[in-house]
Amino acid sequence: MAYSILQIALATLLGYFVLVDAAIIQQTRAEAHPPKAKVQNGTYVGVHNDHYNIDYFLGIPFAQPPIGILRLAPPVSLNSSFSGTRNATNLQPVCVQFQWQSTTVSMDLAFWVVLLSKSRALPILVSGTSALHFIGSSAGSQLLAYGGRNDSLFRAAIADSDGPLAFKSPSNATQLQTWESILNLTGCSTASDSMACLRGVSSANLSYAVNASRVTFMPITDGGFVETHSSAQLLNGQFVQVPLLTGTNTDEGTNFVGSPSHIGALPTIAYPNDTSFLDYIGQSITNTTASAAALAALSVLYPDIPAIGVPHSHKGRLNSTFGSQYARVATFAGDFMAHRDRRLSAQMWFKYNVPVYTYRFNQWPIGGLPDTTGTTHFTEIPLVQDHEVQDGYLAPWYPAGGEFTSMDSDFYALARLMNKAPIPPLVTFFRCYLKTP
Ligand SMILES: *[C@@H]1O[C@H](CO)[C@@H](O)[C@H](O)[C@H]1NC(C)=O
Ligand SMILES: *[C@@H]1O[C@H](CO)[C@@H](O)[C@H](O)[C@H]1NC(C)=O
Ligand SMILES: *[C@@H]1O[C@H](CO)[C@@H](O)[C@H](O)[C@H]1NC(C)=O
Ligand SMILES: *[C@@H]1O[C@H](CO)[C@@H](O)[C@H](O)[C@H]1NC(C)=O
Ligand SMILES: *[C@@H]1O[C@H](CO)[C@@H](O)[C@H](O)[C@H]1NC(C)=O
Ligand SMILES: *[C@@H]1O[C@H](CO)[C@@H](O)[C@H](O)[C@H]1NC(C)=O
Ligand SMILES: *[C@@H]1O[C@H](CO)[C@@H](O)[C@H](O)[C@H]1NC(C)=O
Ligand SMILES: *[C@@H]1O[C@H](CO)[C@@H](O)[C@H](O)[C@H]1NC(C)=O
Ligand SMILES: *[C@@H]1O[C@H](CO)[C@@H](O)[C@H](O)[C@H]1NC(C)=O
Ligand SMILES: *[C@@H]1O[C@H](CO)[C@@H](O)[C@H](O)[C@H]1NC(C)=O
Ligand SMILES: *[C@@H]1O[C@H](CO)[C@@H](O)[C@H](O)[C@H]1NC(C)=O
Repeated sequence: MAYSILQIALATLLGYFVLVDAAIIQQTRAEAHPPKAKVQNGTYVGVHNDHYNIDYFLGIPFAQPPIGILRLAPPVSLNSSFSGTRNATNLQPVCVQFQWQSTTVSMDLAFWVVLLSKSRALPILVSGTSALHFIGSSAGSQLLAYGGRNDSLFRAAIADSDGPLAFKSPSNATQLQTWESILNLTGCSTASDSMACLRGVSSANLSYAVNASRVTFMPITDGGFVETHSSAQLLNGQFVQVPLLTGTNTDEGTNFVGSPSHIGALPTIAYPNDTSFLDYIGQSITNTTASAAALAALSVLYPDIPAIGVPHSHKGRLNSTFGSQYARVATFAGDFMAHRDRRLSAQMWFKYNVPVYTYRFNQWPIGGLPDTTGTTHFTEIPLVQDHEVQDGYLAPWYPAGGEFTSMDSDFYALARLMNKAPIPPLVTFFRCYLKTP
C-alpha cells in the first residue's frame, strides 16, 4: 500500500488513549494555581489551562533515559526520589521516530504527559507508557498486549479512527530490510556486535538513520507483547475486558489511497481500471495472495457505482486524476484500515458482555477540504479537541486555513458538544503531543 509519510505518522498516533487508574496520581486539589501532583517519589507542579479547565503535567519522566545499554531495550523504571517540587510545565522533546522533521526530537528522554480534568477525577495518561509495561509503538496494542492479560493498568479505553485490530506485523523480509537499512546508515553493518554498535552511535546519527531509512516501525508478532494475530485474540476474547469507546470517520479511506502529499491534496496515484482496484486489495492482504474467488467476491461487495461509497461528499464519477475506480479503492481502504476494526471490536466487546460505545463521524463540510476528500482520517480531531482557539498542533493542510475557518455556528456547537463528551481532557492529546517548538 502506498501511504504518505504524514499519513503513517497520524495513523500510528491515532491508536489509543489509555485511562490510568486514579490511584496512580493524586492531585492536590486544594492548590488549583498552580496545580500540584504528588507521585511516589516527589511532587510535580503543573499548569492550569483555563480555556479547557484542565491541569497539564507536561514532561514527567517515566523511565530512566534510554541511553547506553538501555537503548533499544525495554524501559527501566526510575529508581530515585527527589525532594521539593519539580516543574512539569513544559512539553519535552518527543522520542526519536519516523519523520517528524518539524518536531524537536530527543533520543535520551522518555516522558509522560498527564492531563487532569477539574470537573472529573480522571487522570489521563497520554504519552509514554512504560509503566504500563508498554514497549515501543503507539499504544495501539494495549488491550491485546501479552494475550490480553489483565494487569489492572487501566479501566477503559478510547480507540479513535483505529483500534485493536489495526495492527499488522510486517513480513520477515521487511523486518530484515529495515534492520539492514538502519545498520547501513549508522555504519554498523560490519560490526561484530550490531546491537552494541547501535547503542554506541550518537543520538543524532541514529535519528538521522531512522529518518533516512524511510522505514516505518511497526510492532511484530513476538509471542510476547504481541502474542498472536489480533483478529484471533479478539475472536477468542483475549483482550483486556474494560469498556471501550471506538469510532471511525466515514471517508477514512481517502487518506490511505492515492498517496496524496497531505490531507486534502490530489492523489498522486490514480486507479483507472479493475486491475488497479484488485491490485490494491492484493497489496493490502499480507498473509497470503488473495485467491481469485476472494477477489471476485470483493469486486461484488465493492461495486462500481459512482453514487455510493467513499467519499460520501462527492456523488459523481471522479476524473482521471483519481481514476474511475478511485471510489471503490477508497471505500475498501477505509474498511480495511479502520471500519472493520471498529465493527469487529464492537461485536467482540458485545459478545463478551463488556460495555462498548461506537460512533461513525460524518461531519461535512470541514475546514474547506474538497468534496473529493470528504470526512477523512483525522478530521474528527479538531472537533473532539474543540480546537477553536488554535493553540496547539498545526494543521496547515486545511484549505480554508484552519479547521474552524469559515465554519458556521453549528460547527462550533458540534465541536463543543463533542469536546464535552465523553471525557474532555483526553482529547487534548494532540494539542500537547504534536505541538511544534
Ligand atoms: C522511589 O525511590 C526509592 C528509593 O530511592 C526507589 O527504590 C524507588 O524505585 C523509587 N520509585 C520511583 C517510582 O522512582
Ligand atoms: C538506578 O539504576 C541504574 C541502572 O539502571 C543504576 O546505575 C543506579 O545506580 C540506580 N540508582 C539507584 C539509586 O539505585
Ligand atoms: C519552575 O517554574 C517556575 C515558574 O515558571 C519558575 O519560577 C522556577 O524557576 C522553575 N523551577 C525550576 C527548577 O525550573
Ligand atoms: C528526513 O528525510 C527527509 C527526506 O529523506 C528530509 O527531507 C528531511 O529533512 C529529513 N529530516 C530530518 C529531521 O533529518
Ligand atoms: C519469520 O521469522 C520467524 C522468526 O525467525 C519464524 O518463526 C517464521 O517462521 C518466519 N516466517 C516466515 C513466513 O518465514
Ligand atoms: C546495505 O548495504 C549493503 C552493502 O552496501 C547493500 O548490499 C544492501 O543492499 C544494503 N541494504 C539496505 C537495506 O540498504
Ligand atoms: C554521524 O554524525 C557525524 C557528525 O554529525 C557525521 O560526520 C557522520 O557522517 C555521521 N555518520 C553517519 C553514519 O551518519
Ligand atoms: C482486572 O483485574 C483486577 C484485579 O487485579 C480486577 O479488579 C478487574 O476487575 C479485572 N478486570 C477485568 C476486566 O477482568
Ligand atoms: C490499469 O491501470 C494501470 C495503472 O494503474 C495500468 O498500468 C494498466 O495498464 C491498466 N490496465 C488496463 C488493462 O488498462
Ligand atoms: C494465512 O493464510 C493461510 C493460507 O490461506 C491460512 O491457512 C492461515 O490460517 C492464515 N493465517 C491467518 C492468521 O489468517
Ligand atoms: C480532477 O478534478 C480535480 C478537482 O477535484 C482537479 O483539481 C483536477 O485538475 C481534475 N483533473 C483533471 C485531469 O481534470
